[in-house]
Amino acid sequence: MSIITRYVINVNIFIILCLCEQVAGNAQKAPLPDDHKSVHNAFSLNKKDLENIVAELPAEIRDRILLSPDRFLSLMANVINEPAGMLTLVDKKHRLPSGYEPSDLVSMKDYPLKISQQYFKISSAVIPDLLEMAQAARKDGIELTFASTYRSESFQRTLYERNVKRRGRKEADRVSAQPGHSQHQLGVAVDFGSVNDSFTGTKMERWLNSNAWKYGFSLSYPKGREDITGYRYESWHYRYTGKPAAELERAYFGGVQQFMMEFFHSKGSIFIAKRTRDKSKPSPFSIKN
Ligand code: DAL
Ligand code: ZN
Repeated sequence: MSIITRYVINVNIFIILCLCEQVAGNAQKAPLPDDHKSVHNAFSLNKKDLENIVAELPAEIRDRILLSPDRFLSLMANVINEPAGMLTLVDKKHRLPSGYEPSDLVSMKDYPLKISQQYFKISSAVIPDLLEMAQAARKDGIELTFASTYRSESFQRTLYERNVKRRGRKEADRVSAQPGHSQHQLGVAVDFGSVNDSFTGTKMERWLNSNAWKYGFSLSYPKGREDITGYRYESWHYRYTGKPAAELERAYFGGVQQFMMEFFHSKGSIFIAKRTRDKSKPSPFSIKN
């Protein structure tokens, strides 16, 4: 083989190698098909994953989420950073561990709030937004009053049994949670004004109904939803969920807290497992973690 032939062969091999490298490089840089991309940078979840997570939700809620997944996941990214256990599902089917008592209870009398009993306590996680809400209501000429806040399991037992004596078990179960099953035991529920239907339609009730969500409070037992919540309408009973969850409930869950809490209960752990940041933070969806 002449020197020239060998030279030509070497140059050709070089060109072929360069072309191969370029093809490989281009393959690496080629964009992923849409279905495989993460829908949001806070979670390693693609479109198909999200479709599976929301598949069992009522159609209206599922469609809203899939129509604007970015806002949904931005809110979820904030929801998963709420304090440990704060968004635990507590309802007729899901009870708290026996004797559960929140570890962060504070005395409400230490704050500028109109409480009906000096012994009232509440979870400290609620305080900043509660004070902000009370101040906003004051600006609108309304002083929020508090009729009931944290209740221990034994106090809830006393209330429930009193209700059973007065109304019979069937009616009591429509208005009072059995011990271990009350949101009040979690330290994040508040009864405003007066705990009866005379509260409905008052200035305070109407103000809360329009504004409470802005401060992270959600009406637990809305009108016409007894089949979903298990309790008759309570215009006075709010649960603090934090601002991102209250916004999520309004924007995606049709203002029905029960739907959102059930979703957190069954699917929340997937968001925790698939988060890209703050990986060691405890889950807000379970008090056991
Ligand atoms: N009244 C509500 C359901 C409770 O007892 O927690
Ligand atoms: Zn209540």
